Amino acid sequence: MRVQSKWSAVDNMTEMGVGSLDSSTCSRVAIFVVLGLVLNLAVVCNGGQTSAFVRKIDFSADMPLDSDVFRVPLGYNAPQQVHITQGDHTGSAVIVSWITADEPGYSKVVYWSANSENQTAEGIITTYTFYNYTSGYIHHCIIGNLTFNTRYYYVVGIGETETQFWFTTPPEVGPDVPYTFGLIGDLGQTFDSNKTLTHYESNLLKGQTILYLGDLSYADDYPNHNNVRWDTWGRFVERSAAYQPWIWTAGNHEIDFAPEIGEPIPFKPYTHRYYVPYNASGSTAPFWYSIKRASAYVIVLGSYSAYGTYTPQYKWLQEELPKVNRSETPWLIVIMHCPWYNSYQSHYMEGEAMRVMFEAWFVEYKVDVVFSGHVHAYERSERISNVAYDIVNANCTPVKDQSAPVYITVGDGGNLEGLSTVMTEPQPDYSVFREASFGHGIFDIKNRTHAHFSWHRNEDGYAVEADSHWLFNRYYYPADDSKSTSA
Ligand SMILES: [Fe+2]
Repeated sequence: MRVQSKWSAVDNMTEMGVGSLDSSTCSRVAIFVVLGLVLNLAVVCNGGQTSAFVRKIDFSADMPLDSDVFRVPLGYNAPQQVHITQGDHTGSAVIVSWITADEPGYSKVVYWSANSENQTAEGIITTYTFYNYTSGYIHHCIIGNLTFNTRYYYVVGIGETETQFWFTTPPEVGPDVPYTFGLIGDLGQTFDSNKTLTHYESNLLKGQTILYLGDLSYADDYPNHNNVRWDTWGRFVERSAAYQPWIWTAGNHEIDFAPEIGEPIPFKPYTHRYYVPYNASGSTAPFWYSIKRASAYVIVLGSYSAYGTYTPQYKWLQEELPKVNRSETPWLIVIMHCPWYNSYQSHYMEGEAMRVMFEAWFVEYKVDVVFSGHVHAYERSERISNVAYDIVNANCTPVKDQSAPVYITVGDGGNLEGLSTVMTEPQPDYSVFREASFGHGIFDIKNRTHAHFSWHRNEDGYAVEADSHWLFNRYYYPADDSKSTSA
């Protein structure tokens, strides 16, 4: 609004006929114009940087059903949609999940390492129906007591089409253990989704585990939530998710609440397909839980599960945060789908109610960083909090706070809904960098004091960091890291 009023004034002067004014009047006009430009620049620079990168803004097209990335594996009852996630609280167990289409088959996993004999674990099989869709046979098998920092091979499809994969267990939990997390959100299954996943796989900073920020298949964007698109998505991401754990967060596209077609149970496809180790952290539902991995303590929250006072999620988080031993796991990371701080118009303020409930705890317990998705773009904040407001005072503006987390939105996986390109203006003070492009993030923990975050735009080369920032650990090195941006 301020920009508009300044230039309206200049326009009015022009309309009055600047060319006919005397020299002193012209000087005054010139000064006015220069002042206007300076003030305009000040407005533009009010917050951080809004990237000027030019990208296509057309909606992304889903890859067709006969795409090679969706190919059904050959062989009778061949296991498909294989994916793994952490299976306990410390990383010494893995949940292996896969689907067989023709018949239940065996739900066994055979696994071994270079130093161990073959071992077998028995899983369970579940199925579900959704409107006129019937799922395949969904297998989930926990393999535990694994040795840390070890390559394991595993085979599923025992007795039919046996298929081998591998994964590497994380190092044992400890304060100085380096570890590299990938960050992907809102992936979907478009041609851009495929670029994002390829870009992540090709990144020279090799991610060891993905923190997935919610909104997986976008099947609910299809008529009757066509669950065939859950299957295609599972086959699409297998090339990564079968080999490294994806830590799951539920987004709004996992709700699948459709009473109009007889499907009133929220999260039905998601909870049947994606098991998470919520019991291991004392949670009572798969939408909020925690894991330790290397030097990180990761808390997953459910943006679409009740979080008000007295609710299960509220009580769990209240008891969970004091349990975090920062001398063991210095890096306290929270992931949730809906961001609390978002200066795009898309989903603006949707995270506000949860922020009001939990932000004071995040400051008290000095969360290092919060990763979110939901907004189809990228944004990184200062360390800020907005906990001083009490309705009657006027302290309702976020302030810089070195006890607060950095908030990073990486909802730019590339789904069919396209980019969130419209931003609130001017850019808020707390927003350091924002850009509406598809990409992924890397959170690279070096030791107990330093971690490096980088954001990688799909259009760039694999080594390019379109935005990056050094985070100083809030427990071991709570120095001001606001000026540590390195790109
Ligand atoms: Fe979302």
